[in-house]
Amino acid sequence: MGEVSGDCLSALFKLRGVHQHYAQRASAVCGLDSVDFTLHRGDTCAVVGASGSGKSTLLNILGLLERPAGGQVEFFGHDVMTASADSLAQWRNRYLGFIFQSFNLLPRLSALDNVALPLLYRNHTRDAARALAAEHLQAVGLAHRAQHRPADLSGGQRQRVAIARALVGKPTLILADEPTGNLDQHCANDILELLLGLNHHHRVTLVMVTHDASLVQRFARRIEVTEGRLQERVEHVTA
Ligand SMILES: Nc1ncnc2c1ncn2[C@@H]1O[C@H](COP(=O)(O)OP(=O)(O)OP(=O)(O)O)[C@@H](O)[C@H]1O
Ligand SMILES: [Mg+2]
Repeated sequence: MGEVSGDCLSALFKLRGVHQHYAQRASAVCGLDSVDFTLHRGDTCAVVGASGSGKSTLLNILGLLERPAGGQVEFFGHDVMTASADSLAQWRNRYLGFIFQSFNLLPRLSALDNVALPLLYRNHTRDAARALAAEHLQAVGLAHRAQHRPADLSGGQRQRVAIARALVGKPTLILADEPTGNLDQHCANDILELLLGLNHHHRVTLVMVTHDASLVQRFARRIEVTEGRLQERVEHVTA
């Protein structure tokens, strides 16, 4: 199973009764508990909650990086629980852009080659991948640092490389785990504008973990995670 049908009316993700737990010595730690959640194309969704509440666990499941211990997960109508590892990898590369809490950049590669890497997996030529990567580094204000390795960049600059890498493949869904946590307010606002602009102009779906109340207000949906349970807060949008 390769391509997934892009029916714009269908839900991008449907989670039903999802739970995740992790074995810790003799006991089990709860990551998520009885989660029902539907994400549609074009949604913008802020995820908030205390440290350890399950936000990253939720993003890892939506990012097809973790399969939950139980429940149902559908991605564009396909059953994630029974899909092959190859299918998941292919869907991740083709449809998802992930901005991790801890960057996950490859230390031996330059900023430019880190951003170009997802395109090489899609069989772009090296020159074509680098050209697109350069455009995306420019979009996050880092054209002048293209040849630097991650160790020679500041935390905020590394975060922007990770953002460029997530966007370079033109994902259908961007999953961002505190993408602005290492950035000053000005830079955080620029990144948010960039992400919301992709939603506005290209209907890219956006799910973002953030603790910044001023950013949360810009999202159409707000999900609060408390001890592994999700609750949707319905409030007025000021975007
Ligand atoms: N790989 C793992 N192994 C063991 N326990 C884990 C693992 N991943 C998450 N957990 C546990 O699951 C719970 C939820 O963790 P999660 O990382 O989703 O929290 P979070 O809301 O993202 O927190 P933070 O705001 O600090 O990033 C925590 O109790 C955590 O210790
Ligand atoms: Mg987290």
